[in-house]
Order: sequence, then structure tokens, then C-alpha cells
Amino acid sequence: MSNAPTFNHDGIAYGCDYNPEQWDRSLWREDVALMREAGVDLVALNIFGWSHLEPRPGEFDFSGLDEILDLLHEAGIRVNLGTGTASAPPWLTFRHPEILPEAEDGTTRFPGGRQAWCPSSTVFRRHALALVEQVGARYGSHPAVALWHVSNELGCHNALCYDDESAEAFRRWLQARYVTIERLNAAWGTSFWSQQYSDFAEILPPRLTLSSRNPGQVIDFQRFSSDELLGYYRAELEVLRRHSDVPVTTNFMVTAHIRNLDYWRWAPDMDVIANDHYLDNRLADPAAELSFASDLTRGLADGGAWLLMEQSTGAVNWQPHNLAKAPGEMTRNSLTHVAKGAEAVCFFQWRASLQGSEKFHSALLPHAGTDTDLWREVVALGGILDSLDEITGTRVQADVALIFSWESWWAADGESRPSQHVDYLSQVHAAHSSLRRLGHTVDVVRPGADLSAYRLVVVPALYLVRDSEAAVIAEFVGNGGHAVITFFSGITDEEDRVRPGGYPGAFRTLLGITVEEFAPVLPGQALRLTSGKAATAWSERTRARGAEVLDTFADGPSAGRPAITRHRSGDGAGAAWYLATHLDPEDLDEVLRDAARGAGAVPQGDERHPGLEVIRRADDERSYLFLINHSTQDVELPATGHELVTGAPVDSIATVPAGAVRVIREDLSR
Ligand code: GLA
Repeated sequence: MSNAPTFNHDGIAYGCDYNPEQWDRSLWREDVALMREAGVDLVALNIFGWSHLEPRPGEFDFSGLDEILDLLHEAGIRVNLGTGTASAPPWLTFRHPEILPEAEDGTTRFPGGRQAWCPSSTVFRRHALALVEQVGARYGSHPAVALWHVSNELGCHNALCYDDESAEAFRRWLQARYVTIERLNAAWGTSFWSQQYSDFAEILPPRLTLSSRNPGQVIDFQRFSSDELLGYYRAELEVLRRHSDVPVTTNFMVTAHIRNLDYWRWAPDMDVIANDHYLDNRLADPAAELSFASDLTRGLADGGAWLLMEQSTGAVNWQPHNLAKAPGEMTRNSLTHVAKGAEAVCFFQWRASLQGSEKFHSALLPHAGTDTDLWREVVALGGILDSLDEITGTRVQADVALIFSWESWWAADGESRPSQHVDYLSQVHAAHSSLRRLGHTVDVVRPGADLSAYRLVVVPALYLVRDSEAAVIAEFVGNGGHAVITFFSGITDEEDRVRPGGYPGAFRTLLGITVEEFAPVLPGQALRLTSGKAATAWSERTRARGAEVLDTFADGPSAGRPAITRHRSGDGAGAAWYLATHLDPEDLDEVLRDAARGAGAVPQGDERHPGLEVIRRADDERSYLFLINHSTQDVELPATGHELVTGAPVDSIATVPAGAVRVIREDLSR
């Protein structure tokens, strides 16, 4: 938005959610003093404030919030002020049970947790906006307020609501999209299984059925649900804008387990992009996922600065096994985000709760108090971030891009697909992790994004793709770029209709191949290629039609068929690679290493130092090298300049101790 306010912060912000309503007022001054000791300078307040601000319908009490805002302001701490609408107070759901969300099986989700509201509920919206009106009017020009925080993690629990009010809103959304019922019937392929509609009134959300559901209906419901919450965000934004010039955002959830919002569509409405990220120890390589999520968040920020709005100092409470972070891990996590564009490092939450379902979630100030290693690391991190203030405004340097799509995620992981063993995000993670192991910094971009700044573009499992989006990739290769496209890409169009004539329809010509039949294999079955490379999960019966065959399946259901191909562009400068299987990590590394070399993409890191993440942020005058040592070995590598964390000069060789982080202001004169 051109006239939107921008979030200005002097240096890198350090902050947390603070829930003073959970604590006796006598502790507030001590909290603020400790925040200063830690260097905290941005505090999120009033995230779950509604039942305190409006204890009874229409009766408001701002005394607590007034007091804490003033205390923080006196201490020079800026406030990221929640609108307070994330969770409805019991009086509201008691009086209006119709706002409660309904699951796909028609059962109600009751209050007692949080976010128990239907995104399409007009009653909820009316009450929530009335609160935003009060909060906006009262604090819209309070000098402490630096940022507005709309609701909280919109759609974390309630994104998909299947009740009658959602059904009505879904119908309106469909009517706007398709105008006539005939067009909807065509888009959803309703001639199948006697599903033809005669009127929009007959349409329901994709509630649980006896068999698998219509995929067109499912993907449109996903699109609708994302748009519906974005509409809700806009409604709060409109109220805030009337009262305040302060920038507005909400915290995204770019993480491995939340997928219901198409943040490519949301991003333009944010004055600044903010993300919550939690290490997911259910994954094989949580640090690799963190790296992907921060690259994607930067993509949402168009390559510019963004805010890490929440992470944890240690364990969370919502995974099956909630692992404490190792000493130094919180600092490495934080610096990875900063290396990848974050200009605020914030946590959930300030003081560990004594009650409520998050009482075993870590915080900046643990139950055990300040005489703890955790608190000492919190204070040290504040110091490190202060020493990095000068890096703000620089941009992450990357010559490799990876295309990511929420729509493909929704469509590719449909109920009836070739293999339940293959899912979209794992394919994306596999490609990104491999590039990371090879030392590349990767920009994660939307389908259709301008690719001209890149040398290599990786396109993992881009199942659903529009003609115009596929054309950008073809044009990139036509202009001399190199692309690697992996299996189950280009299969369907915007309406999830298979592109006929052989897979991967949208990329067939570009790749110079035709896939005649998918031939996935059972979990645990190993596949071999003639080169000796190992693979699992997927094979296909491919035929080369102009592409060079670089490797073939040596066994399995596609034995003798191409497994890796490359198709040069007309003038030979560009190349389009295709991977027809899920390669083992080191074999994928080998392919992507070759592709990157051929493309002339230059890794920032060095494969001789596995575990050392190397990222560069720069602009015309400045260059900063971030070195994050995830390994248990000290690493030495060539660099010259000034190291910001230790304040020491670096003359030709930098040493990064095991587990440590270093940031070097590079000497550009040498
Ligand atoms: C989310 C929420 C917070 C808190 C944390 C716990 O990010 O926004 O309120 O519940 O999860 O990890």
C-alpha cells in the first residue's frame, strides 16, 4: 500500500508477548526493570485482553492497560499493541453460541480454549469491531504504540469453519467468482458422480461425506476460508486506520504444520510482515525447516525486512515431546532469522505462566527466575542484537530461487492422490534442505514472480499451476536461466483440472519429456538408478522428447525409463532439468550441485564445513557475513573485516567456535 505507514525501529528490535493481566500489579515494575536489563525494547500487549477490557457487555475497564502502557513508555519500551480480539470472552459465547465454529463433521467447537469463533460470524465481527473501536480511539496516538497487532495468529485453530453461516458466505464467494452455476459446475467437474448443481443455494462447505470429496469444492473452500479471514483482518484494519497512523500487522504462521492461509494473498495488506516461528522437533531437521520458513517469510516481505514476532526460548508445550533448546540454540535460531531478513526478534512470552494450558511453555523469564542459564542467554542475546543494529536496511543476497505455492499444497495433498506417502511440503523441504546443505541462500518466491535476478530456479512439486505462471519459468529458461522441476509438477490448472496429453502438462514442452503414467512405490521400497543413485516413494513412466536422459530407473515399476533429464533451451544457454523420483538426500545434493554449477549460482557456504550456515546481507555500501555454526567443531574460514558479536577485527581468517554465531562487517576495500 503506497500511503501505508512504515514500521520504523532504531536497530533490531528485541521483544516478547507480555500478559500482565496474568500477574499481580505489584510485579509489573519488576517486569519492566528486568526487560530493561535484558535489552527488551518492543513488547506485545493485549493479545488476549478482551475479557479484561470488557468484563461485561459494553462495560469497559482500561485501567490496567493504561497503567502498563505508561510504565513501558516511561522505560523507553515500545509497544506492539494487540486489538485484543483473538479470543471471545465467555459472556459473548454464552449469549451468542451461534458464533462458535463447527468442524467438518458438524460438531461444535466449544469455548474453554481459544479462538472459538467462526470467521464468517457477523455477530462475532460486530462485537470484535466494537472493541477495536474502543482500543483504537483510546491508544491510537499513545506515544508508546509503535505497531498494531490485529487479533492473533488468525486462523490458527478456526480457519476452516463448516457451519451454516460459513456456508452462506461460501456461496456468496462462489457467486462472485463464477457468476453462473454453469461455470461453477464446469470448474468443479460436477458431471462426475452426479454432482451437478442447479442453483448456488444447493452448495455446502465440503463437510464430511461417505467417500472422498469433490476436489474442486475442497480447493475453493480453502481459497474462500483464507479470503474470509483476510476480510476479517481488513475490517479491523479499517477501524484502526480511522484512529491511528501507526503501522498495522498481524502475526503470520509460516511453519510446517499450518497451511490454511494463502499468505501470498495476505502479504500486500500488511504494513510490515510479521511471523511466528517455532522449531518443530517432529521433523527430521528442525533447523533446516527454520531456514526455509525464514526464507519464505522474506519472500512475503518482497525480499525486505520483516519481524520475527514469536519464537520460544526453549520448549513449547504443544508438541508430543517438548524439547528444551541446547545452550546457544536460541541464539543460533535468532541469528538465522536475522541473517535472513528479520529486523525484530521477539518471543512468546515474557514471564512463564503459572496457570493455564501454557504453563509448561518456555519464556524469557523462566519459572526458576533470573539465576538461570536461560536468563543469562536471554540477556546475552539482547547484547548481541544491539551489536548488530548497523545491519538494518541491508538485503539478503541470493541467486537461487525456489517457487512455493499454498494453492499447490492444498490441491496436491488432496484426499485421492497417487500416493499418500508423498506430500507437497516434504518435497519442498527436501529441495530447500539440499540447497542449504550445498551452501546456497535461497529466495522463496510465489508462482509467477519475476525470476530475472536468479541463476537457478527450483520448482518442487508445483502440482497446480496457471499458464501464466508456467510461462514465467519457460521465459526464464529461454533467457538463459536454469530450472530444476521435480515430479508431480504442472499436473493441473487453476481449477485442479488435469492437463491432458501427458504429464507434466504445463512443463512438457519446456522439459522435452512426456510422463505416460505415475508409478509410485510402497513405503520402504528402495529404487535404484543406473548411476547407482538411490530413491524412494515415486517413479514414473517417462519418455524423452528432446531432453537428454542423464539417468534412468534401474529397477522398480519404471525400470529403463528416464529418471533425470535435462533439456537445453534453443540457444543452449538455458536448461530445464526434471527429476522423476524422490532421490536420497546425498544424491539430490549431487544433482542440485551440478545444476547450480551449470547455472553459475555461487554458494555462500562451503560444503567442507557442514553445519556452518553462511548468509550475506548487503547493499551498495555495506556487506555483512553471517556465520552460524550449528556443529560441534570450531570452523575457520577466510574473511576480512570487523566481527560485530565480539567486536574484534578479522584479518584474513575468521574463527567461529562450535555452536557460536559471528557476523562480520566485510572490508570491501580488499
Ligand atoms: C502461538 C500463539 C501464542 C502462544 C504460542 C505458544 O504462537 O500466538 O499465543 O500460544 O503459540 O507456542
